[in-house]
Amino acid sequence: MNELETMAKALVAPGKGILAADESLPTLEKRFAASNVACTEDSRRAYREMLFATPSLHRFISGVILHDETIRQCTKEGVAFPEWITKLGMIPGIKVDLGAKPLPRFPKERVTQGLDTLADRLAEYKQLGARFTKWRAVIEIGDGLPTSFAIAANAQALARYAALSQEAGLMPMVEPEVLMTGNHTIEHCYEVTAATLRSVFDALMDHRVVLEQMLLRPNMIVPGLNCPDQPGPDEVARKTLHCLRRVVPAAVPGVMFLSGGQTPERATAHLHAMNVIGRTPWELSFSFARALQEPVLKAWGGDEAKTSAGQKALYHRAKCNCAARYAKYARDMERQG
Ligand code: G3H
Repeated sequence: MNELETMAKALVAPGKGILAADESLPTLEKRFAASNVACTEDSRRAYREMLFATPSLHRFISGVILHDETIRQCTKEGVAFPEWITKLGMIPGIKVDLGAKPLPRFPKERVTQGLDTLADRLAEYKQLGARFTKWRAVIEIGDGLPTSFAIAANAQALARYAALSQEAGLMPMVEPEVLMTGNHTIEHCYEVTAATLRSVFDALMDHRVVLEQMLLRPNMIVPGLNCPDQPGPDEVARKTLHCLRRVVPAAVPGVMFLSGGQTPERATAHLHAMNVIGRTPWELSFSFARALQEPVLKAWGGDEAKTSAGQKALYHRAKCNCAARYAKYARDMERQG
């Protein structure tokens, strides 16, 4: 088996998922502010060291997505993070996009930047120890949005990124995210997600991306956060699988959902409900940022004395998501946390 295919399979190994810890500086600043934590280079480093050092995290977490700042940082003892994460039994990855910027002449729509400098940055990240990459495109639902042009522009960028990443020997995680902001229905999310994924897979094939050597990181099919009708986990699971079965080729080894602003418990319940239905050609896993980290930040609050409380919160969420992968999650597990 090719090295990138082996990497994709290792990241979706049974019971395991990915910890996304690649928040940009402004995003992490906002999350720290909510817990009254000062956001400095060292507090970001210390926070991420606490996450990765969670005892036995590798039982549930296969890989970690790092930010450009973190991949260049070291533990307190001076070990570079990628080397240390590998020693802890997890695979280091890296976010390689440069963020979503306004799409000219398409008000309120965005396209992700970073292709021009990507080949050089990929070579450097590989040298720094990254083994896989991530690129996020965002699609917003709104009045007359998204346009088919914005979907296609983002799909083209995702496909060029994935082709460049495979050429550089780094397994790509392709992330087209239909955002949860707004009051749209679950049906509307289904339509937009299906159109987006169709466009993304057309572009991936046009760009000769090897589907066996990549992972998909999509949103689940959920209504907008302000939609009055919020269906339960079974409907979310049914609609998500119905949509993905129609548009995601069986050659892709795994679908690793992002959490997108769902509460940690809901994201886990949805993953569980999907694995109960099961019978998909791809593994159904998680690559959560907020849904793994929210309880950690609350428990830690920037206080070194609360390191083990933060780690306990992360271990608990990772364990619940591991159970969800085996369709064995139960609400009772939350009381044991
Ligand atoms: O690329 C986006 C971030 O990793 C967000 O992940 O939706 O699980 O918070 P999340």
